[in-house]
Amino acid sequence: MRGWLVASHFVTDEEYLDLLLRFERAATRQGIELVRKTNVELAPLLGQDGPLPNSPDFVLFWCKDIQLARHLEARGLKLFNSAEAIEASDDKAATVCALERTGITQPRTVMVPRSDTSTTWGSTGFAKATAAALGLPVVVKGTRGSFGSEVFLAHDVDELVALLDMFAGNQLICQQFIAESFGRDARVQVVGGRVVGAIERFSETGDFRANIDNGASYRPHSLTVEEERMAVEACDALGLDFAGVDLLFGLNGPVLCEVNSNAHSIPEMQECCNVNVADEIMTHIARELSA
Ligand SMILES: Nc1ncnc2c1ncn2[C@@H]1O[C@H](COP(=O)(O)OP(=O)(O)O)[C@@H](O)[C@H]1O
Ligand SMILES: [Mg+2]
Repeated sequence: MRGWLVASHFVTDEEYLDLLLRFERAATRQGIELVRKTNVELAPLLGQDGPLPNSPDFVLFWCKDIQLARHLEARGLKLFNSAEAIEASDDKAATVCALERTGITQPRTVMVPRSDTSTTWGSTGFAKATAAALGLPVVVKGTRGSFGSEVFLAHDVDELVALLDMFAGNQLICQQFIAESFGRDARVQVVGGRVVGAIERFSETGDFRANIDNGASYRPHSLTVEEERMAVEACDALGLDFAGVDLLFGLNGPVLCEVNSNAHSIPEMQECCNVNVADEIMTHIARELSA
């Protein structure tokens, strides 16, 4: 069996390169030939005339280049995760809508109306109406951010207006703040419809965001039945073969925060849960292709 491991040419930090190595080693253990390709080298190949030369049995798509994912599928390749599933989970607004009628609890959400970079929100009444709908403080998120870098807390209407003005022209959502979960969440790793590991992430810096890249610590987490069910159902609903699901700890049970199609928490799962997520993913792919 042959696969391509599609990586971003532009992400070259040690942590990312380590994840790619983990997949390559996992593939070798299974006798799968996994060849690394970057988005930059692959994209032009798809523009060539005629069928793709040496096309692989599958593509493990480990970057966020959704255009390329769609083009690879259009050229007949089988992707893990599929382009549609990546799109629905990488865009936080899309995730909210995709899960709206599944019964999965999510923070109440307001989609920030499309604006342009010169928009000023103060006179529109939007911030006041959003604060009335969601309560204060309110969470503001860029729809395609990660590592907590585009997630903010507005404590009053003026702060909300300032954030909206600062990011005018970007795609944003506002969300109800789940105060009980301040600085804490669960990262649940699902592969092939099954939870393979879970950690609790907790910030000791006073930050409400529990991202490890933002300085949070982590420890093993025993999932409740409800948490486990929510993580698996979210992946099912989004059509994900594998994902890291972030759950907030709500007063009445878990609240789905977001879903990561290519979660970077593989080393932490190894450390806390003694599970090799790269092996789990390669096993899942091999099983799917031989089914
Ligand atoms: N609605 C919310 N209520 C409380 N905390 C939140 C909420 N949304 C996000 N957070 C916190 O912020 C962190 C980052 O948010 P998340 O939506 O997962 O974005 P990212 O893609 O940047 O990780 C979460 O892990 C959680 O700790
Ligand atoms: Mg997250």
